[in-house]
Amino acid sequence: MMKLSMARGSLLLLTWFAVLGCLQAVTLEVKERNSTCIKAELSASFSITYNTSSGLRTVQVPLPDRTTVDATSSSCGTVGSLQWLVATFGSGHTIGLSFSTNGSLYNVATLTLQYNLSDSSTFPEANSSAVVTVVSASVGIWGAINTTYHCVSPISVVVGGQTVTFSDMRLEAYMPGNDLSPKLICAADQVSTTTPTTTTRTPITQSPTPTPPGTPKRGVYSIRNSNGTVCLLAQMGLQLNFSYVSQSQNKTMQEIFNLTPNLTISSGSCDSRRATLVLTQDRTTTLNLIFSLNSTTNKYHLSGINMLANWSDMTAPFSASNTSLDYLRTTLGRSYMCDAEQTLAVVPSFSLNTFRLQLQPFGVTTNQFATAEECQMDQDQMLIPIIVGAALAGLVLIVLIAYLIGRKRSQAGYQTI
Ligand SMILES: *[C@@H]1O[C@H](CO)[C@@H](O)[C@H](O)[C@H]1NC(C)=O
Ligand SMILES: *[C@@H]1O[C@H](CO)[C@@H](O)[C@H](O)[C@H]1NC(C)=O
Ligand SMILES: *[C@@H]1O[C@H](CO)[C@@H](O)[C@H](O)[C@H]1NC(C)=O
Ligand SMILES: *[C@@H]1O[C@H](CO)[C@@H](O)[C@H](O)[C@H]1NC(C)=O
Ligand SMILES: *[C@@H]1O[C@H](CO)[C@@H](O)[C@H](O)[C@H]1NC(C)=O
Ligand SMILES: *[C@@H]1O[C@H](CO)[C@@H](O)[C@H](O)[C@H]1NC(C)=O
Ligand SMILES: *[C@@H]1O[C@H](CO)[C@@H](O)[C@H](O)[C@H]1NC(C)=O
Ligand SMILES: *[C@@H]1O[C@H](CO)[C@@H](O)[C@H](O)[C@H]1NC(C)=O
Ligand SMILES: *[C@@H]1O[C@H](CO)[C@@H](O)[C@H](O)[C@H]1NC(C)=O
Ligand SMILES: *[C@@H]1O[C@H](CO)[C@@H](O)[C@H](O)[C@H]1NC(C)=O
Ligand SMILES: *[C@@H]1O[C@H](CO)[C@@H](O)[C@H](O)[C@H]1NC(C)=O
Ligand SMILES: *[C@@H]1O[C@H](CO)[C@@H](O)[C@H](O)[C@H]1NC(C)=O
Repeated sequence: MMKLSMARGSLLLLTWFAVLGCLQAVTLEVKERNSTCIKAELSASFSITYNTSSGLRTVQVPLPDRTTVDATSSSCGTVGSLQWLVATFGSGHTIGLSFSTNGSLYNVATLTLQYNLSDSSTFPEANSSAVVTVVSASVGIWGAINTTYHCVSPISVVVGGQTVTFSDMRLEAYMPGNDLSPKLICAADQVSTTTPTTTTRTPITQSPTPTPPGTPKRGVYSIRNSNGTVCLLAQMGLQLNFSYVSQSQNKTMQEIFNLTPNLTISSGSCDSRRATLVLTQDRTTTLNLIFSLNSTTNKYHLSGINMLANWSDMTAPFSASNTSLDYLRTTLGRSYMCDAEQTLAVVPSFSLNTFRLQLQPFGVTTNQFATAEECQMDQDQMLIPIIVGAALAGLVLIVLIAYLIGRKRSQAGYQTI
């Protein structure tokens, strides 16, 4: 079943495998005049889609341990200016992070990825030999000055349609000394480390429950731009419906799994045409929602869903991906709302049920939802009271008319006497 779904999703995010599996950590350091200004210890993996003569192909490229800092492009900047960490690997591939600060916080201002399609061992059968550069200005990584940004959980950033996933990341810019400052644990990790069940990975919480879990709780999620403004808003209850082979029971289980908002950590990114929301629960279940904006029609939609579950009872991690979906289509400048339960089919072995949903992945202003476009089901449900009301009104009218006619007749009767 897994093989089937893997073959289906042409853009399957194997990134998650790479991230949760064994990736090497690299240490990158930018120095100037003997003092370090940027230090990063991280694992990274790139999911890159390119053209071949037989169609699109996606490869997973890990950041190799032989990655080196490009001293000429990297810089500690002058006071108040950007700092740059530029690292090169393989045959002319580059990843660059620029940092900015406002005195109390620093953040990743841009993430640049450059890849060389003529490297045929990394990009087999590419029909172009170009060096492609993609940039994202909404990365969502920031920390307080004099602290290290530390995140064990994977962080995905969509860069010009490609995905960069960092994990086990320690990062500091505008460093006061040559060693990393005390850690500032990222919000993503705080939730799960305070939950004892997740760190011990006991199978108890993940053993298949025979009874359906009921309606999921509604979670409230938001994603911020690099400049701190909220760019994606979502409120929804989410239920995963998928099948996997249970180790303990030696059979295929149909699992109905509710995401628990207070155990779920959210991350993601916003570009001008693409926004992603990544929800991770217990570090073992990850759901990735990808929204696309068509700037010609000024409509956006949910274009991709990826899911990875690596539970202790599974014979193999469950993975499903479909990036050619067309759900929740809405006009730019509006939010999408659906109170009723909706089922979004992803692959035959996985579907997503949504409850009390409202979201807006583009055009968010002042941290608030714009006017909602309601789904058809809600509109239909609103019609029911209207129809019932109209029917009742009609009935009252008929009774009234009958009464008036009856009275007229009886009055007429009296008069003739
Ligand atoms: C799944 O989790 C196990 C530990 O529980 C880990 O060893 C393994 O690498 C994980 N696999 C994937 C694909 O993430
Ligand atoms: C750089 O630091 C090392 C040891 O910390 C020291 O030996 C060396 O003299 C310094 N170089 C300069 C140019 O300051
Ligand atoms: C593939 O080629 C087509 C046509 O040249 C182009 O429109 C598209 O953007 C390319 N896709 C990628 C991922 O490079
Ligand atoms: C590469 O292939 C795509 C279709 O897969 C095609 O549209 C595009 O024109 C090709 N580009 C070159 C430079 O051959
Ligand atoms: C791109 O890769 C090709 C083949 O590996 C190599 O010859 C070329 O120098 C690379 N380009 C850059 C800019 O490094
Ligand atoms: C830096 O930005 C943060 C968040 O936008 C803000 O809370 C803080 O006051 C700013 N600091 C300065 C010195 O402007
Ligand atoms: C950071 O630490 C350095 C040296 O310890 C100190 O001079 C500076 O004021 C600190 N900055 C902030 C914003 O705390
Ligand atoms: C923040 O960035 C977004 C796009 O990345 C831009 O539209 C917005 O104007 C920026 N806001 C501020 C306050 O700079
Ligand atoms: C879960 O998926 C299965 C198979 O598609 C379907 O038969 C079942 O009704 C779904 N259950 C829920 C609660 O959505
Ligand atoms: C699992 O079930 C299959 C058939 O359903 C059987 O052949 C196999 O021996 C079972 N394995 C275990 C460990 O019970
Ligand atoms: C999560 O919410 C449930 C019920 O709302 C509560 O019982 C539980 O303690 C919460 N867990 C955490 C880690 O906050
Ligand atoms: C935008 O929508 C138009 C009309 O549906 C379609 O022809 C076009 O391919 C779409 N563009 C993108 C980038 O999806």
